[in-house]
Amino acid sequence: MLSYRHMYHAGNFADVFKHGLLTRLLIGLSAKDKPYFYLDTHAGIALYDLMHDWAQKAREYENGIARLWNATDLPPELAPYMEAVRSVNPYPTLRYYPGSPLIARRVMRADDRMVLVELNKVDCSELASVMSAERHVSVHCVDAYQALKATVPPTERRGLVLIDSSFDRAREFDRIVKALKEAHARWSTGVYALWYPIMEAAPMRDFALDIQRSGIRKVLRLELTVRERDESGIIPGCGMIVVNPPWHFEEEAKRIVDWLAKKLVVNGKGSGRVDWLVKE
Ligand SMILES: C[S@@+](CC[C@H](N)C(=O)[O-])C[C@H]1O[C@@H](n2cnc3c(N)ncnc32)[C@H](O)[C@@H]1O
Repeated sequence: MLSYRHMYHAGNFADVFKHGLLTRLLIGLSAKDKPYFYLDTHAGIALYDLMHDWAQKAREYENGIARLWNATDLPPELAPYMEAVRSVNPYPTLRYYPGSPLIARRVMRADDRMVLVELNKVDCSELASVMSAERHVSVHCVDAYQALKATVPPTERRGLVLIDSSFDRAREFDRIVKALKEAHARWSTGVYALWYPIMEAAPMRDFALDIQRSGIRKVLRLELTVRERDESGIIPGCGMIVVNPPWHFEEEAKRIVDWLAKKLVVNGKGSGRVDWLVKE
């Protein structure tokens, strides 16, 4: 039984970071006419009611999407993301937050194919009720890493895999690096985006070293820190590893991360970084 429920965290700073970057990756893939493939290995429920008791518990969205909702200085790179958030909010006030499946659907084209995977049975049936009627979308209630093995390489030969684990099991950093290596060995030209929470320095160094020693090239690292580590248990920041980023993504990501580091800081100093873990 999985205990993690994304409803508690929906719309927080990590979602804003992840989803803002996700839109740029998918828009980058749309630069070519041919349809592409998108796999979301940990899809969640697709739509979150921020007034739900669970979302209200820590109100994490207040230090996330709520800070962007009325912002007048939004960088143009985040416009498609905000448009996706507004599309699920019929009134001028912020109430709902779209998860990665709905964010992706908003920027993908009619012929691009989306595969959504969610292991929690309750969440998966909710996900299916929101997304299944969509053309070229399939929902699978199975394990992320099995789904990755089964779907990659895709027939389209172009596309993106988002690995957005809930990190609620030990050794998850090892698991995602292993999954990345295996998938990359079968499909080296795919774009891969791996989200991760920022932990203490030692595991972060090991994670970076594992990726650098994997033999995979063109690996961009993006990180956003919004608070100092404290007793609350709330993660101070998060990151994303992107393999084979599309053209222009690096510059777009830098503008997004720099702006979010100022906008979403909670205590201490907000900071962002975008650097190459492995170059071409
Ligand atoms: C961080 S949440 C996903 C959020 C979603 N990607 C979004 O951005 O809106 C992680 C999800 O992964 C699911 N999950 C955890 N372990 C999994 C596994 N082994 N395979 C598939 N899904 C898993 C959890 O139930 C949870 O819904």
